[in-house]
Amino acid sequence: MNSSIPVSAVISAIRPLAQDVSLYTLQTEPGNLAASSFLAGQFLELSLPGVGEIPVSYCGYPTKDGSIELCIRHIGHVTIPLKTSAAGNVVALRGPFGVGFPMSAYNGQDLVLIAGGLGMAPLRSLLLTLLARRKRYGKITVLYGARDAESLLFLDELLELQRQGAIALSLAVDRTDHGLANVPGCRIVLLPELLDQLAIDPGRTFAAVCGPPVVYPYLVSALQVMALPDDRIHLSLERRMKCGVGRCGHCAVGRYLCCVDGPVFSCAQLAGIEGALG
Ligand SMILES: Cc1cc2nc3c(=O)[nH]c(=O)nc-3n(C[C@H](O)[C@H](O)[C@H](O)COP(=O)(O)OP(=O)(O)OC[C@H]3O[C@@H](n4cnc5c(N)ncnc54)[C@H](O)[C@@H]3O)c2cc1C
Ligand code: FES
Repeated sequence: MNSSIPVSAVISAIRPLAQDVSLYTLQTEPGNLAASSFLAGQFLELSLPGVGEIPVSYCGYPTKDGSIELCIRHIGHVTIPLKTSAAGNVVALRGPFGVGFPMSAYNGQDLVLIAGGLGMAPLRSLLLTLLARRKRYGKITVLYGARDAESLLFLDELLELQRQGAIALSLAVDRTDHGLANVPGCRIVLLPELLDQLAIDPGRTFAAVCGPPVVYPYLVSALQVMALPDDRIHLSLERRMKCGVGRCGHCAVGRYLCCVDGPVFSCAQLAGIEGALG
């Protein structure tokens, strides 16, 4: 099956996650490769017929029944019309595209997942992948920051995993204490400050980071101060994408094309590329 040929998918469920963010479950044919064969960190191209096409990260775990979970923020000319769609509506998608998180490198290692805002979408996919084979990995820590308590996505899932002892969880909001009473342990600090209280073994830890580009330089330097080597820091870079298959050049970062060589890169790959992290 060719991943660049669009297939149709029916919206089977829409779950509001925050004021402007919803979790969409799409149903394709059982066994469809777009649903069954992807790595956390990869993305697909989602199109709303007659409106346009956008890249969206996988948010769930691969399925055989053809269902796909996507977390969408409603901000523009494709994603706002999507807000008025309903279960039963048809969309199109093609994928998977890009390079995801290198799961085989993570065997036997501790993982620190660092998500800012909507960056939780691909990192939830990574977390579900790790949890599906929990015994393969050491300690899993999730550091997650959002602008306020209402914007923390998948909070119930994360708190339940913390309660079960499957993950260690640190939460931050950067604006207000409104709603914080319902979020145990959440602090009003910027995301990089969550690293202050983290102890890692740099020789057996990988960090997987996805969030607004503005925090990347701060996160990377904090991780480097903790002696984590650049090849153990993996970042998902979001760049303007059009074709998704390496033809248009819109997503260039130095010598790389994000849609083909990324969006997940190690810091070692990005060393010396001006503007790569910004
Ligand atoms: C690899 C990759 C993975 C992505 N994964 C997801 C995902 O899981 N969920 C999701 O909702 N989006 C994701 N995006 C972003 C998504 O593709 C954009 O939100 C989308 O392109 C916006 O499309 P639009 O046509 O609705 O908005 P547009 O009409 O293109 O933009 C409307 C306005 O929003 C601004 N804008 C565009 N993108 C963003 C952004 N990401 N953040 C803030 N402002 C923005 C524009 O500058 C413009 O002012 C991903 C992008 C990439 C490249
Ligand atoms: S989106 Fe066209 S080359 Fe990457």
